[in-house]
Amino acid sequence: MIKLLGVAGSLRSGSLCRSVMSTITGLALPNTTIAQFDISELPLFNDDLDGPTQPTAVAAMRQAIASADGLVLISPEYNHGMSGVLKNALDWASRPTALAALKAKPVLVMTVSPAITGGARAHQQLNETLLATQSRLVAGRQIVIGQAHEKIVDGSLVDLPTLDFITQRIQDLMRVCTGSGNA
Ligand code: FNR
Repeated sequence: MIKLLGVAGSLRSGSLCRSVMSTITGLALPNTTIAQFDISELPLFNDDLDGPTQPTAVAAMRQAIASADGLVLISPEYNHGMSGVLKNALDWASRPTALAALKAKPVLVMTVSPAITGGARAHQQLNETLLATQSRLVAGRQIVIGQAHEKIVDGSLVDLPTLDFITQRIQDLMRVCTGSGNA
């Protein structure tokens, strides 16, 4: 069984990213579970808080990432970058460097926006951050969901070509997790 963990980079209840995430967690993929980690309880990154003990939410997230086979990150685009809350989560997950939960972890990235550009600039920034964390970024076609407000109805992604594409890319992530595909 492959255990995937999803992190959505928006905290608001009507979030398009959270809608895509909840649609993904409902996909019936063989031999795979997709859980979700809610980053809303994480404090702002402060190295003074990190040491032998950490804030409860930080320890919980690190544990959840460490025990997952792979990650699915979904970000909105704010001012041409990823959301601050997602960057904050990744900074916590990147420490301590040698033992970081993100190190060597297979990661699939998606960006979501009502704009036609689909958060492509945030996507690029996420790729750069995951390079720094030595994560195993799933290579290939980028999931950039533009005009997302037209593809989401009542909190679910209903656009079939987009859903099909996401499903293919999650299967690519699964192959990376099992060592039968390229990161
Ligand atoms: C945005 N938005 C936005 N969209 C985009 O495609 N490129 C951008 O640079 C920005 N910049 C931006 C800055 C700020 C501060 C806000 C609040 C919004 C619009 C953004 O994509 C839209 O609000 C999404 O719906 C946010 O994602 P969630 O919360 O729906 O997941």
